[in-house]
Amino acid sequence: MSTVALIPAAGRGERLGMGLPKAFVDLAGQSMLHHCVQGVLSSGVVDRVVISVPVDLVDQVRSEFPESTVVAGGSNRSDSVKAALLAAPSDSEVVLVHDAARCLTPASLFADVVDAVRSGASAVVPALPVVDTIKSVDPTGIVTGTVDRASLRAVQTPQGFDYSVLKAAYAAAATDFTDDAGLIESQGIDVQTIPGDPMAFKITTAWDLNLATWLLTDRAHA
Ligand code: CTP
Ligand code: MG
Repeated sequence: MSTVALIPAAGRGERLGMGLPKAFVDLAGQSMLHHCVQGVLSSGVVDRVVISVPVDLVDQVRSEFPESTVVAGGSNRSDSVKAALLAAPSDSEVVLVHDAARCLTPASLFADVVDAVRSGASAVVPALPVVDTIKSVDPTGIVTGTVDRASLRAVQTPQGFDYSVLKAAYAAAATDFTDDAGLIESQGIDVQTIPGDPMAFKITTAWDLNLATWLLTDRAHA
């Protein structure tokens, strides 16, 4: 059963604030994108990789990853995923969508997501329980309530889908969802959660980049 991994890597990295697209920021000697592609391939469960990147970096990334398909991303994440999906082999059966920014994701999580899709779920997301107390606030910062966290989950990638379900969902809807499961939910299709992994955290801020650097370097030498 053929599995394609789509890697949206076309974001600007504004919250990281390094002045270049986040996936191209150096992490312990290699770009985040490099770590991410290496992680996807080392899982052993992916047959094909499609990467969406900023339009001016397409040629550079094509020469860096000659085995992968590289396309220009869009102005929001959904557009970048859609561009990659359109370039995926049409005989794919399972699609993984995986943020370039979650570049320390362990191989086992890719395998777990693929297994769950192969077992019959149309859409699968890794999820972790929320550990902090969650408050809602008004625009001035005054607390308006405490949200019951028992039913809340923080959702990660890789998210896995039946290829034809994801393809039909993207064809049917105008898209600006922060994740692909959101698109599937909006169409009334069940999304299955499986246990996430702390190492699949997303590098969003300088703090996250420091943590990732420590995990790859200092910790290894401790
Ligand atoms: N992404 C993308 N195309 C976009 C926006 C985001 O491919 N137009 C990708 C990012 O490259 C990243 C993933 O989607 O791998 C998750 O997005 P996020 O963490 O928000 O990254 P950025 O959009 O780059 O960061 P920021 O929101 O801080 O600018
Ligand atoms: Mg973003």
